[in-house]
Amino acid sequence: MRFQAPRGTEDVLPSSSHAWLRLEADFREHCRLYGYGEIRTPTFEDTDLFVRSSGETSEVVSKQMYRFTDKGGRDIALKPEGTAPAVRAAIEHGLCPPGTVLRMGYVTPIYRYERPQKGRLRESHQFGIELLGSAAPAADAEVIEFTARFYERLGLKGVRVLLNSLGRDECRRSYREALLKFAEPLVQDWDGEARDRLRANPLRILDSKDEALKAALAGAPSVQDFLEPESRERFEAIRRLLDAANVSYAVDSGIVRGLDYYTETVFEVQSGSLGSQNALCGGGRYDGLAQELGGPSTPAVGVAMGIERALMVLEAEGARAESISPDVFVVAVGEGALDAGLELARSLREAGFSCLIDLEGRSMKSQMNQANKSGARFAAILAEEETAGGTVSLRDMRAADQRSVPASEVAVRLRGSL
Ligand code: HAM
Repeated sequence: MRFQAPRGTEDVLPSSSHAWLRLEADFREHCRLYGYGEIRTPTFEDTDLFVRSSGETSEVVSKQMYRFTDKGGRDIALKPEGTAPAVRAAIEHGLCPPGTVLRMGYVTPIYRYERPQKGRLRESHQFGIELLGSAAPAADAEVIEFTARFYERLGLKGVRVLLNSLGRDECRRSYREALLKFAEPLVQDWDGEARDRLRANPLRILDSKDEALKAALAGAPSVQDFLEPESRERFEAIRRLLDAANVSYAVDSGIVRGLDYYTETVFEVQSGSLGSQNALCGGGRYDGLAQELGGPSTPAVGVAMGIERALMVLEAEGARAESISPDVFVVAVGEGALDAGLELARSLREAGFSCLIDLEGRSMKSQMNQANKSGARFAAILAEEETAGGTVSLRDMRAADQRSVPASEVAVRLRGSL
């Protein structure tokens, strides 16, 4: 029986894990610059946490959750997103008492039972930040600027920031009604799923990927026309802050987001280098969530960025990170050479150089081939002659230049060249 990784999951292999490590290091550094402390929450939570936060009618909850009953009879779900767990933890540990501001960042796997395709996985990974405790437009602008600058830092080209406001409850209620009125006469032509979507939550049909449906909705009313003066002012203030920060964006009233907890600001960043799954990230304000989860009323805003999607864009744009090759390959041939080689490798590692060594006592030719293949910058050759003389032949693999160096000086020479 040969096993395969489960459908919709991907192994990260040693040949590509360096790109992940690099990206994660970039994200953590970016969090440091903006003062977001890392939070790590469990892979699974009470199912109800997600039902209450994302909404019963959201696809994530109604169709995509990995949900099971554990041996203690608890209803458990693998986390389909990172916001609700982070907010749950903030409430549980009293991290954001009224009047304070909390900035949290995370790197997390998420689980959604979706139909896998390019850029859409059942286990995927996100970088996220959540800013709790501030209702100021500057908080929304900070999260959006963080996001735009992060993609800039990665060197992604052709990214578009799309911004919208869903207003507050009152506005959304009247907008829902108007949308329903517009769309209902059309639903006869659509499949059952679209009809269900419309009835369960009219906003969600704007999120549809169905081209025909999208075309039919082209003349639908815009949520922007329903915003209350207060929401409009907030939205304008955020736009002014983004303009001042030199973050370019477009207002797009089609951005409604697939999770129920959003209030007012919502945004996505899309990339032309991704296919139909073109969202690099999504986020927005969710002022009602903490209270919904049993905490004090806490305004909040955040974003989650798909790691696989960022890697896809990096690869498509040819900005793949260099693979990690060792500094030195120790070639040890002949009687007594392995001991001397191991000793040399040990001392080089202690000095901070990455080192590979042949363990099988293979021929000089085979070991030089391995050194070549490994991409090592230097080969430190120890054949009998060198071992006897206490020297090493240090070969610069790029310059094909080889010189004899006392074993004790190899590290010093390398330091000068690497
Ligand atoms: P989301 O839009 O569901 O938002 O996911 C954010 C990003 O995660 C997407 O734009 C996409 O890049 C990536 N993503 C989601 N699902 C998949 C998948 N099946 N395969 C590959 N990538 C995927 C949230 O998760 C919210 N928690 C964002 C947020 C944070 N809102 C406020 N704070």
